[in-house]
Amino acid sequence: MSARPPQRIKTMCGITGYVGTKSASEVVIHGLKTLEYRGYDSAGVAAFVNGRIGVVKAVGKVANVEKRIAELGTLNGATCGIGHTRWATHGAPSDKNSHPHGTDKVRIVHNGIIENYAPLREMLVSKGFTFESETDTEVAAKLIEYHYDNCKNHEDALISAMRDIIGSYAIAVMFSDCPETIFAIRKDNPLIIGVGKNENFVASDITAVLEYTNTYYQLGDFELAIVTRDSVKMMDMKKNAVEHPLLTATWSVEAASRGGYDHFMIKEINEEPEAVRKTLHPRIRNLLPNFEEENLSDERLKNAKSVTFVACGTAMHAGLVGKTAIEQLCRVPVKVEIASEFRYNNPILTEDDLVVVISQSGETADSLAALRLAKEKGAYTLGIVNVIGSTIAREADNVIYTWAGPEISVASTKAYTVQISLIYLLTIKMAYLKGKISESEAKEYTRILYEDMPEIIKATIAREDEIHEAAKSFCAYSNLFFIGRGIDYHLAMEGSLKLKEISYIHSEAYAAGELKHGTISLITPEMPVIALATQEDLYEKMISNIREVKARGARVMLIAREGAKDAANEAEKVIFLPRCDQFFNAIPLATVLQMLAYFIAKELGREIDQPRNLAKSVTVE
Ligand code: AGP
Repeated sequence: MSARPPQRIKTMCGITGYVGTKSASEVVIHGLKTLEYRGYDSAGVAAFVNGRIGVVKAVGKVANVEKRIAELGTLNGATCGIGHTRWATHGAPSDKNSHPHGTDKVRIVHNGIIENYAPLREMLVSKGFTFESETDTEVAAKLIEYHYDNCKNHEDALISAMRDIIGSYAIAVMFSDCPETIFAIRKDNPLIIGVGKNENFVASDITAVLEYTNTYYQLGDFELAIVTRDSVKMMDMKKNAVEHPLLTATWSVEAASRGGYDHFMIKEINEEPEAVRKTLHPRIRNLLPNFEEENLSDERLKNAKSVTFVACGTAMHAGLVGKTAIEQLCRVPVKVEIASEFRYNNPILTEDDLVVVISQSGETADSLAALRLAKEKGAYTLGIVNVIGSTIAREADNVIYTWAGPEISVASTKAYTVQISLIYLLTIKMAYLKGKISESEAKEYTRILYEDMPEIIKATIAREDEIHEAAKSFCAYSNLFFIGRGIDYHLAMEGSLKLKEISYIHSEAYAAGELKHGTISLITPEMPVIALATQEDLYEKMISNIREVKARGARVMLIAREGAKDAANEAEKVIFLPRCDQFFNAIPLATVLQMLAYFIAKELGREIDQPRNLAKSVTVE
């Protein structure tokens, strides 16, 4: 038992399991590799071998545990197993902290947080249990064993454990006296059951098993599944059978693989034109936005007195684009809230408020908590989500899916571009319903968005060499500024986040007009500035801000509209956006900023798709 008081090891991870006729360790390892974007500081596999549960773990990437399994050979012949890849928020990665956890009797892998692990651990210690790790997961494993020792029934033991546990979890369990069977329980964290031919799977998301099957069930909260190679049983806590629709993932394995690109990130940027087209097309009828499929009534949009976007990170930046667009076209007040702040600010909301929760993964803990709070306060909640069937998608009053396809790279690119495209479409609809624009104006805006925009994004991507060239001259710095005004300031925030998360260069987005109120003291020849000036009415102002920083020795890269006056004389490097109605400039500008961050990080040899310390879906607070 660890001498130190337990430190709550919160992890955000990926789990997977297999039961069938193939090599369990091979299938589980394959699944973990596709989940590595969720977390990758340690990994482990448990499998039934010769009537007992064998376990192999390793610190570091999944490849390390794969290597150790091959060296040890102790899992050879296993056809039922579970696995886990970990992203720890606290506590160093180590063998003892990595999953699977438990004993020879019960082994589990877990994604989520056991909030009340400390009192549970004390209770278990008083019953004679000992602990070797500091994780909450080991507490869950021994809690299940404790209940099983008492009731001698697997389902009852798991149901009792669910009753005791406070927190969020997706857990896969193996009992040594129940071979070739995987049990699974979940609350708040995603867990799918993949259905194959004479084989079945469990996983955090369908990407982990796409190699073998694309049909799956989404297990519901407080439900239990019993999975063997030829059966899947799902039940609630009263042991009543539950039915879920058998879903089919439209994502091919190829779609989730790199498709010949150096990184998922650049592949996903290149998918933006198609992703925008795919997402908008079914929501346009007779050249006007149409959300009947989503049962989003015209009244809801027409009567909205205010809109609140709630999200995290890049998704929150999509909300900022929405704020500019909706306030400009619909003249409706829009708030943009950081979800982790919103949920503790006791927000003022009524049933007249439209709260839009934006999330690529649909599993971000802060955004989910914000959604639940908004619903408690009576607001109508609309999700804009990329992952079908994810928790935010299922809990919002309504959801509009962004059909961007799997986004594997931790840095969000195509999901963001599709989010803002969809928000523009909603803006056009709302402005038309509120009588702020005529039908012909609404049709023209819609045509530009649907017909021109994918081509404009393509033309932007085609400027790859020019963007890469510009990136080379700015990759040697440790700090830099992004400046802009209006929507360009909002895009500066997204450009800054992209650069920081994948290149590790510190950058700051600043309202250009605000620099002179203090921050300009930081401008030196060692502090380059990337100026965004895509708005015609603010261009001259931006040129004066560029001159301000140049006068203090800064090197400047300017991103402007094609044909912007004297641009080439104003900055050392200029990247022009393809001609576009400036109302939609945020879309090609986003692509430029994504590519700029990508090429800078590539020049620096960074681990672009899996940057240090980051995970794709942050399901911890
Ligand atoms: C985006 O590049 C980041 N990886 C991160 O900010 C992300 O946007 C944020 O965690 C929200 O994720 P979500 O869209 O899945 O909710």
